[in-house]
Amino acid sequence: MRGYQSVLAAFRKRLPPKVLRNQSSTATPKAKLVSAVAENPIVLSVRNFKETEAKRPNFDHSDTPIPVTKSPNPDWKYGDGVSRGESAAGILTHAEIDPYAPGRSMVSNYRLLISGIAPRPVGFVSTVSADGKTENLAPFSYFQIVEHDPPMFIVSFSSRPGRMKDTYQNLKDTGECVINTVSENMIEAVNATSIDAPRHISEWDVSGLHKAPTSTVKPKRVRESVFSIEGKVIDMKEFRSHVTEGKSLAGLALIKATRFWVRQDAANEDFSHIDLNKLRPVGQLGGMAYGRIASTFDLPRPKWDDEQPKSELLTRLAT
Ligand SMILES: Cc1cc2nc3c(=O)[nH]c(=O)nc-3n(C[C@H](O)[C@H](O)[C@H](O)COP(=O)(O)O)c2cc1C
Repeated sequence: MRGYQSVLAAFRKRLPPKVLRNQSSTATPKAKLVSAVAENPIVLSVRNFKETEAKRPNFDHSDTPIPVTKSPNPDWKYGDGVSRGESAAGILTHAEIDPYAPGRSMVSNYRLLISGIAPRPVGFVSTVSADGKTENLAPFSYFQIVEHDPPMFIVSFSSRPGRMKDTYQNLKDTGECVINTVSENMIEAVNATSIDAPRHISEWDVSGLHKAPTSTVKPKRVRESVFSIEGKVIDMKEFRSHVTEGKSLAGLALIKATRFWVRQDAANEDFSHIDLNKLRPVGQLGGMAYGRIASTFDLPRPKWDDEQPKSELLTRLAT
């Protein structure tokens, strides 16, 4: 193993190569890269995970329909605020944190953000390199639908030691992708594609997932996904405000859908609704955690004209 890979290997084994301590601006490119890796412990090696997991209950594969319950407080009235839980007492205090304070590490911000902004859907993104030779597949949970008319999505790419993520580079070079949904039964395969494999190894092979044809873009879609969205890049933004020597920029892509693919048995007749019991989406949480949907509840969106005559508070506010 050479270069970047050996630096990563050393870091994973927690070996302190001498250059790790050298962060001066006169450092060599390799030293800068080593230093950047040392400051970027986003993906840590987890020891004894299989032992820990063995003590946990098995995953419930029963596929029983996800129950629909009442909402948490069906008697809630306008102005009621929160009536249950710790925040109801109004005595909890909050710590103020400046994310840019000296001594506040990027990793602390990362851990705080991914545990506090949760669950996040996982966009499983298929792209192809500029020369058309490498087919790339990787998961991203800095991902969201941002509009339905036109259907648009964002995917965001974190800074890392060395070059920018392949998916970002491919989007920049080709402007095309497929965003695939992630269901419970796919999660190990999806997680495997996030591995920092050598560039010539295809994540498709690592995952064992299958390619299915697309119509408007070159990248293939994932056959196992319930829902896949072919898309083209509308805009990209690189965040130069946090450039660190040895690390790539962070970047964001705005993607407009050009085609939808929906598993036939998972949708209603006019393909306007996907069955949650078929989609079984996985959400990414803090640390290494993922969540599944265990139950749902409905809550109609309020309309002033319907609600105001029924509510004393709304009527008072209106006068
Ligand atoms: C569930 C999951 C979600 C992830 N979300 C992101 C993300 O939002 N942004 C990011 O830069 N990396 C994210 N990663 C890490 C990338 O998938 C990983 O760096 C991958 O190797 C990038 O592949 P690429 O270089 O082929 O694009 C995530 C990994 C996992 C397992």
